[in-house]
Amino acid sequence: MNETNFDLQRYAAKARQAAAEGVVLLKNDCNVLPLAPGSKVALFGRSQFNYYKSGTGSGGLVNTKYVVGIAEALESKDGYEINQAVKQSYLDWLQEHPFDKGAGWGKEPWFQEEMFLDADRVKQAAKESEVAIIVLGRTAGEDQDNKPEAGSYLLTEAEEAMLERVCKEFKRTVVLLNVGNIIDMKWVEIYKPSAVLYVWQGGQEGGNGVLDVLTGRISPSGRMTDTIARDIEDYPSTANHGGSIRNLYQEDIYVGYRYFETFAKDRVLYPFGFGLSYTTFETRTERIERLNDSVRIYVTVTNTGDRPGKQVVQVYCEAPQGKLGKPARVLAGFAKTKELLPGGKQFIEIKIAFKAIASYDDSGITGCRSAWVMEAGSYIFHVGDHVRDAKSCGSIAIDKLQVLEQLQEAMAPDVAFERMRCASDESLIYEPVPLRTIEPKARRAKTLPNEIPYTGDKGYKLTDVKSNMVSMEDYIAQLSDEDLCCIVRGEGMSSPKVTPGTAGAFGGVSKRLEAFGIPLACSADGPSGIRMDCGNTAFSMPNGTCLGCTFNEALLTELYAYAGLELRKNHVDTLLGPGMNIHRNPLNGRNFEYFSEDPFLTGRMVVAQLHGMNPYDVTGTIKHFACNSQEAHRNTVEAVVSERALREIYLRGFEMAVKEGNAISVMTSYNPINGFWSASNYDLTTTILRGEWGFRGIVMTDWWAKGNDEGEEGSVQNVAAMIRAQNDLFMVVSDSQQNTRGDNSAEALRMGTVTRGEYQRSAMNICNYLMGTTAFNRMIGMETELDKALAAFREEEGDVVLDILSVPVEKESVLSGEIFDISRGRSTFIRADLKERGVYRVELTCRATAENSELAQIPVSIFHDAEILQTITLTGADSEWKTYTVDIRQPILQKTTHFKFVFGQSGMEIKEFRIIMTSSLEERIKQAISVPGGQI
Ligand code: BGC
Repeated sequence: MNETNFDLQRYAAKARQAAAEGVVLLKNDCNVLPLAPGSKVALFGRSQFNYYKSGTGSGGLVNTKYVVGIAEALESKDGYEINQAVKQSYLDWLQEHPFDKGAGWGKEPWFQEEMFLDADRVKQAAKESEVAIIVLGRTAGEDQDNKPEAGSYLLTEAEEAMLERVCKEFKRTVVLLNVGNIIDMKWVEIYKPSAVLYVWQGGQEGGNGVLDVLTGRISPSGRMTDTIARDIEDYPSTANHGGSIRNLYQEDIYVGYRYFETFAKDRVLYPFGFGLSYTTFETRTERIERLNDSVRIYVTVTNTGDRPGKQVVQVYCEAPQGKLGKPARVLAGFAKTKELLPGGKQFIEIKIAFKAIASYDDSGITGCRSAWVMEAGSYIFHVGDHVRDAKSCGSIAIDKLQVLEQLQEAMAPDVAFERMRCASDESLIYEPVPLRTIEPKARRAKTLPNEIPYTGDKGYKLTDVKSNMVSMEDYIAQLSDEDLCCIVRGEGMSSPKVTPGTAGAFGGVSKRLEAFGIPLACSADGPSGIRMDCGNTAFSMPNGTCLGCTFNEALLTELYAYAGLELRKNHVDTLLGPGMNIHRNPLNGRNFEYFSEDPFLTGRMVVAQLHGMNPYDVTGTIKHFACNSQEAHRNTVEAVVSERALREIYLRGFEMAVKEGNAISVMTSYNPINGFWSASNYDLTTTILRGEWGFRGIVMTDWWAKGNDEGEEGSVQNVAAMIRAQNDLFMVVSDSQQNTRGDNSAEALRMGTVTRGEYQRSAMNICNYLMGTTAFNRMIGMETELDKALAAFREEEGDVVLDILSVPVEKESVLSGEIFDISRGRSTFIRADLKERGVYRVELTCRATAENSELAQIPVSIFHDAEILQTITLTGADSEWKTYTVDIRQPILQKTTHFKFVFGQSGMEIKEFRIIMTSSLEERIKQAISVPGGQI
């Protein structure tokens, strides 16, 4: 990529390719697809007009310049001849049934009411059009899970009626699933549409990606990253999902295909890795080579069909059933070919590290407790198109138990429960999980960092550390207890100190820290584009599941290189993403942000994204570390999970991101795991993350997350417990200096329940990280050519102001709350005609509506002319009327002036907005000239 050329068209083209490559074709009877451009098509389903570009919540709130939905794309000049009568019937009906946005954070309905179709109209349409395309839509997101009910995981009655009618009348029918993650698929057998495609939520270029696949410009090459079982009850995690206090992860390592391929093959409708193409491939394994700690598999792929296409070669390992039970198959490697023309061939080498096929012994049954081991026996490799189809192509023999890594007990559960296991005869058994034996408190005591004696201000700046003039320790020694308590608090949301409308600022949050030369870094959601609640636009990417289904690492690196440039352009240092939790169960509301049920694939995709962003000195904050497997009760529900499942499933992708992707920023999750809230889980963020994986970056909490001392309840105020665990940053407070969330840092330092050394350790982690950011370079005036080019680009973009409300303003004027359009993504513009020029302040009285959950985030940004005055972010707990006062710093010199309110999310009520003159221009001038050097 030409570094200084941030080209939106090429960005869009890459995203379009990703949206297309993520599409999974599940069925294509009689080669109904591809459909030549210009074909006569009748489009059914309201989601053709209400395209879901992503799910909801923090991962969905990207303001975009445009979104190409399915209807627009299919009706474009490269698309189809759309049946206008059918289209008109929808447009008429939509007048009466507009899109229901719901009210409040996470309250958008997961489906929209569907139109019941008139039988005669469908009959008529079948005469006029060659093929029917039916679009089904679902959203989901933060604070609410999917439900095994109609309108969520299941289809509604109206949707089924539509399928039934259309599939009966049309010979050729194509169903497009514009959904965040998998849904129930039993209906395919009932209504038998000719073709079915998961098109996911493809971001702002999503519709174009769908068009490319339908027309055959791109042959589908997406593969399922999850197993689709016959019934939601078939997933072994379903029985232990959705709890409010704790979920026992009894299925242990048998998540997704690891379970189905081992114990319940007959319950699968579409296996992991499955996806059809318009062409056919032959995959021949040439040879297998065994090296010291890895295996190489050499494969030749030939396109044996008559259309160009890409193939995903998948390698699964069947490890021996030893003392530890093993899943029948584990994804150990994969590669996507380039586009092969008919007859074209590609030779591929797939490297498989032993770690990818090893097991973690947490019980000592192999004689090696707390170790990654390979038990003796034959490791058989299966190569093919998907987990079920892969054929054995060779094996390696391990003569005796090999210990790959001897680690230590960490994060062991302290609740007794039984876990699923595969016995050596491959039958399903349950065995007790070994419980924690080492007290984390004792471990913490052994590893307390040395305290650096306080020196007071020696005049050292962070630049002195960067240029090796002063050691980090001597530098940190200058910080007082108060400074240390401040630096571990991030500010937000929408801190006025960094890019407007973003999630958090951290680092130089107080005047004193700033004086020590500590820059302020900016973090923004994440994961599928930059969220700026002030209304600024950014590029919206396909969702995580869609990106996972591409199985295309190079593509993700290229795409996220654009994201890296865009972050840098917007002065955002870290994107709050990728989200990389495991799809433990299809009902998790945020699966759309994450990639897969498989940790290896997840890890590889995240590594690819980080490789795209990191070269621009920006990065991604990998989240949510760990086990953020459900949305309901997400800040209280405890994951009770074995060490083995943690190591092999829930932490594995994070480990890869740290070791192979050079991740330098991690967000812990809201939930407790085995007795400790993640943010205060020492084993998680110190023993494993830093001690074992060698992580050298920062760890931040999720927004307003809790921490706890052993045996105690979690609390947002218990920041001391977080710092002890080396979770460096509590995110977020509105003013760190004022300690607006009332955390216990100062008190805990005084009481000695946490040491200065522990706070200093986090301060050093933060400062080390900051020295590598562009925020640091900007602070010291080191802008590169790239920064200048991006700044010029930024200036070229401008938001257009529409609908302006004119109001006359006396010395004090009150505008009623009713004039505001407070729904998500809307803006209200006010032109104020002032009676007098002068100094003004404004007051907004607002509250969160009752439907919001406690952790809801409801921002409004207030602009005066071109300047952002403030973004106020209410949480769901702010349910009482409160007045926020904001001073306009400069006197207003024009009698016509503008205010703009941008609502990033619905769920706020406004009582009134006051504009108050605090002094007239004359008074201000008098005041100014009465003091020497006074300014107006
Ligand atoms: C989400 C995070 C997000 C943060 C900031 C939380 O509600 O869980 O993923 O990054 O808010 O918006």
